[in-house]
Amino acid sequence: MQNIEDIVARALAEFSAAAEPSALENAKAGYLGKTGELTALLKTLGKLAPEDRKAAGAAINVAKEKLEAALDARRAALADAKMQARLAEEALDVSLPGRGRGHGGIHPVIRTWERVEAIYRSIGFDVADGPEIETDWHNFTSLNNPENHPARSMQDTFYVDGKDSSGLQLLLRTHTSPMQVRYARMHKPPIKVIAPGRTYRVDSDATHSPMFHQVEGLWIDEHISFADLKGVYTNFLRRFFETDALQVRFRPSYFPFTEPSAEIDMQFAEGPFKGRWLEISGSGQVHPTVVRNFGLDPERYIGFAFGSGLERLTMLRYGIDDLRLFFDGDLRFLKQF
Ligand code: PHE
Repeated sequence: MQNIEDIVARALAEFSAAAEPSALENAKAGYLGKTGELTALLKTLGKLAPEDRKAAGAAINVAKEKLEAALDARRAALADAKMQARLAEEALDVSLPGRGRGHGGIHPVIRTWERVEAIYRSIGFDVADGPEIETDWHNFTSLNNPENHPARSMQDTFYVDGKDSSGLQLLLRTHTSPMQVRYARMHKPPIKVIAPGRTYRVDSDATHSPMFHQVEGLWIDEHISFADLKGVYTNFLRRFFETDALQVRFRPSYFPFTEPSAEIDMQFAEGPFKGRWLEISGSGQVHPTVVRNFGLDPERYIGFAFGSGLERLTMLRYGIDDLRLFFDGDLRFLKQF
């Protein structure tokens, strides 16, 4: 059966030349399909003499099995090649270092905030929180700073369109001092509280940011004097900076809501700021008008208040010279804390 051997040889060559599964299936159809060459040969069996039929049939079946085995092998080889190509294309370099999990951190100003809270709590101060969108009355008027008074220009204010439910003008609080009034009106003396939080002024340079943080302090009772302010604040600074090697000075100043008023300056005896007086806080004895706005009798109740910048305290603690670094969001800076 010369013909069969020839068919098998051509089929095998075509199968192994097929580079794609579709080409392979087309080649298969040419031999084993309905009109394929081997199928055609099978159809001629009936015309053979009965004595030749058996041997011819067996030979055709052997050829068919050979082709089917070759087909299966080629199909597997093509599938395997396709898989290898895909693997190579989608290869992952498992030796690359992973991105890892990022660790969050506490912002340096918030570290200061927490530190200030811990120190004042330890000497019996309550910690209070209040609104950043404040009424004109709480921020200025109640603090002895009436409308059209020139002292209002000490703080360049962001006003907010619209009024609160009782028709009061709204603004972004320019300091934490309105919390003195809010807290005192809700508590009975002795009043001993700090109120840290965000404050806002139209101000922007290396030492001022439109949003910044303050901590307000207020201690009101029957006999709280300026001497208590000196003691409490000096003790606070020594604990905050973890050194007794610093001096504190109270420099006469003016705030409408305190009388007398003082700026608190400090000076380190060592370190990068050694020998320089640094302004750290406004302070004073609470003005009788403000005590009256607390709902208290100024003949009976007296005390002190202070308002310190948290950025300022942070800059001095870590030796940072530009306040804008706190708000740039640069991880190279923030990761150092
Ligand atoms: N509120 C003042 C300021 O922001 C600081 C201050 C607070 C002064 C309390 C006296 C008493 O400048």
